[in-house]
Amino acid sequence: MTTAPETGQKLAAALRWQIEAGADEAILDAPVDRFATQPPNPAPKPARERAPSNAAPAPTTTTAPPNLAPADAVNETARGLANACDDLASLQTALAAFDGCALKTTATNLVFGAGAPDADIMLVGEAPGRDEDREGMPFVGASGQLLDGMLGFLDLSRERNVYITNILPWRPPGNRQPTTAEIAACLPFLERHIALVAPRLLVFLGGTSAKTLLGRSEGITRLRGKWYEYASAATQDSRLAAIPAMPTLHPAYLLRQPAQKRAAWLDLIAVREKLDALAPMTDH
Ligand code: URA
Repeated sequence: MTTAPETGQKLAAALRWQIEAGADEAILDAPVDRFATQPPNPAPKPARERAPSNAAPAPTTTTAPPNLAPADAVNETARGLANACDDLASLQTALAAFDGCALKTTATNLVFGAGAPDADIMLVGEAPGRDEDREGMPFVGASGQLLDGMLGFLDLSRERNVYITNILPWRPPGNRQPTTAEIAACLPFLERHIALVAPRLLVFLGGTSAKTLLGRSEGITRLRGKWYEYASAATQDSRLAAIPAMPTLHPAYLLRQPAQKRAAWLDLIAVREKLDALAPMTDH
């Protein structure tokens, strides 16, 4: 017979194992008995979304349930919804109403983007972490603080000339890597997001962002530090058909590997210099 202290030790060991495996918070309000034939818990509630106060009403069109719709159909639906949006507020509302990515059901908040909507520089990270999911804002945790500090030294800030978003607008549970299907489902919204901000320069933070938006397979250490041209169907109509883009190391990686900060500094200094070399904009 198992004693109460033994049971407690086993439960504590199971909990420790889950935390080490990356499950750092409960996703549902109550535990799910996966051995029961009929799970006693109701389906997870959709994420509580933050829509801007001036946002257009949510479109009524949504996709079929995420597990049933083929990936191409989801991507097509996303493209139609995103391309119908003419400003950031309506894009945020359309994304909040989009049901084609199952991460929405486990996230707490939609993390759309933040910063100057007419920014010179747009940064694209990977996906919200725990702090961003809680606050509904990108890069507000430790890596965001490092990023803001680095940008500040170059006279760049979200308040004045920088806009930040992510490849995925919802947090993957336990901060796991985004899947190809999740990225494909949300990509049309990001492409439209970039076209609407129409920055003069793009900075891709980390390998997921760089590989997705440049369509490359090399790792970030190979891609970083060089200029590329970013273009998508969504930018074709815009004033800037191709936007110069610099991939660099993700700030979360820099926190783990401080010796790599020098490389990231060189990349950001190159971005600042390129911005300074561009002619002043008259209509931006
Ligand atoms: N990491 C990211 O890639 N994005 C965030 O918003 C936060 C951490």
